[in-house]
Amino acid sequence: MFSSTLVLSALALSSQAFAANFTSTNPSDVDTARDSALTLSPTSNVKGKVFDRFVTIWLENTDYDKAASDPNLAWLAKKGITLSNYNGVTHPSEPNYVAAVGGDNFGMDNDDFNAIPGNVSSVIDLLEDKGVSWSQYQEHMPYSGFEGKAWVNQQTKANDYVRKHNPAVIYDANTSPERLAKNKNLTEFYADLEAKKLPQWMTDDGHDTSVTTAGAWTRSFLEPLLNDKHFMKNTLVLVTFDESHTYTIQNRVFSILLGDAVPKKLVGTTDSQFYNHYSEISTVEANWNLHTLGRWDVGANIFSFVADKTGDENTAWDAASGPNTSHFFNSSFAGPFSDGDRVTGLPVPNTKLVRNGRKVLGKIARTWGDASLQNQTYYENTVQIPDGMHPPQGWA
Ligand SMILES: *[C@@H]1O[C@H](CO)[C@@H](O)[C@H](O)[C@H]1NC(C)=O
Ligand SMILES: *[C@@H]1O[C@H](CO)[C@@H](O)[C@H](O)[C@H]1NC(C)=O
Ligand SMILES: *[C@@H]1O[C@H](CO)[C@@H](O)[C@H](O)[C@H]1NC(C)=O
Ligand SMILES: *[C@@H]1O[C@H](CO)[C@@H](O)[C@H](O)[C@H]1NC(C)=O
Ligand SMILES: *[C@@H]1O[C@H](CO)[C@@H](O)[C@H](O)[C@H]1NC(C)=O
Ligand SMILES: *[C@@H]1O[C@H](CO)[C@@H](O)[C@H](O)[C@H]1NC(C)=O
Repeated sequence: MFSSTLVLSALALSSQAFAANFTSTNPSDVDTARDSALTLSPTSNVKGKVFDRFVTIWLENTDYDKAASDPNLAWLAKKGITLSNYNGVTHPSEPNYVAAVGGDNFGMDNDDFNAIPGNVSSVIDLLEDKGVSWSQYQEHMPYSGFEGKAWVNQQTKANDYVRKHNPAVIYDANTSPERLAKNKNLTEFYADLEAKKLPQWMTDDGHDTSVTTAGAWTRSFLEPLLNDKHFMKNTLVLVTFDESHTYTIQNRVFSILLGDAVPKKLVGTTDSQFYNHYSEISTVEANWNLHTLGRWDVGANIFSFVADKTGDENTAWDAASGPNTSHFFNSSFAGPFSDGDRVTGLPVPNTKLVRNGRKVLGKIARTWGDASLQNQTYYENTVQIPDGMHPPQGWA
């Protein structure tokens, strides 16, 4: 089975450049592209300091209290650690996904068809640099590597898959055939699980529905997996929401850590440290001793039980009412992806930042390290990130 897949893959690689259009949402173009789409299921066994697999499950647009009182999410929370001060970074959805893999939202304040230039790195570069395998699984993707804005269910005409919830494809750096091939339909998750070919870093996206539906889906998805010995191999699962629903309150979202990597004595506890979507990157960096992106990933708090073992220090921050007040993370400051082109240049990673010995990835330092660019960077090694009401100087 696997050798025939490889032969097909080689054919697909040589033909897709000529025939297929991977961004088109026209059903006949989708059919053509599906014929040449490549699917890859890489595996690896890079030992982490605290966990050996990291899984993020994304849910949509719900205020903290509403999610916390959903019976299925509350049931899941009892099996792990509740993160009671975990925050989105802005509104609406797409910039939060972008932030969670790239260390900034680049001023994005919309859910448009956005494509971040190929010289901007994401966590995918950091993982591959250390040989950590990855995949993204998305419900109802019409074929692996589809780059289109949305895929409409051909029977019901409902929007099934949306690009704005697929963080890796929004970065042009991740659109080589080999990287696209790791963006797969959720059905491929079960195939990979069955074949024991799950990656070490993966994301899943649940649909944009009511919290009741999302909670029921998440429990039905996770409950069997929590007892599956192929899935639970020192695995850490983060269940989180992209953003809160109400824009006038702090953008705090209900989040849970689950899996057999969670120490038994912490099951059923609450961690009230300040986290945000950049913590998804910093935690993975600390665990596998990855390089960094030189953006807001560097200073982001690392999930406490992980930081305790990696020797990283976190900083408490009462963002909405503490000394550095009224950070609600409810709007974006200007940037190249703001509506109305408020700022055109890409923010420059700070290539000098170091956290607990972890330096910026060499490729990033070579691209962005020139002194004439470094004098423009706004990133610091701090948990206290700006938001729309507190922009970095010159980015209002
Ligand atoms: C691919 O499809 C997109 C969306 O329909 C379209 O904008 C683009 O021009 C097409 N590209 C090619 C090379 O045909
Ligand atoms: C994608 O997944 C859905 C269920 O999530 C399934 O119904 C559909 O057949 C899959 N499509 C492909 C092309 O694998
Ligand atoms: C963010 O929240 C603050 C405090 O409620 C409010 O004044 C502001 O208008 C909100 N911003 C947006 C874009 O909703
Ligand atoms: C990154 O790519 C963008 C878009 O192509 C370009 O404008 C910018 O100059 C590039 N920056 C660097 C440092 O390579
Ligand atoms: C950074 O340095 C370049 C070249 O030396 C200069 O043109 C630019 O104005 C400087 N930018 C800032 C923000 O100081
Ligand atoms: C307040 O937050 C900003 C980022 O928004 C940060 O640059 C600054 O250092 C913080 N100030 C204090 C006193 O913590």
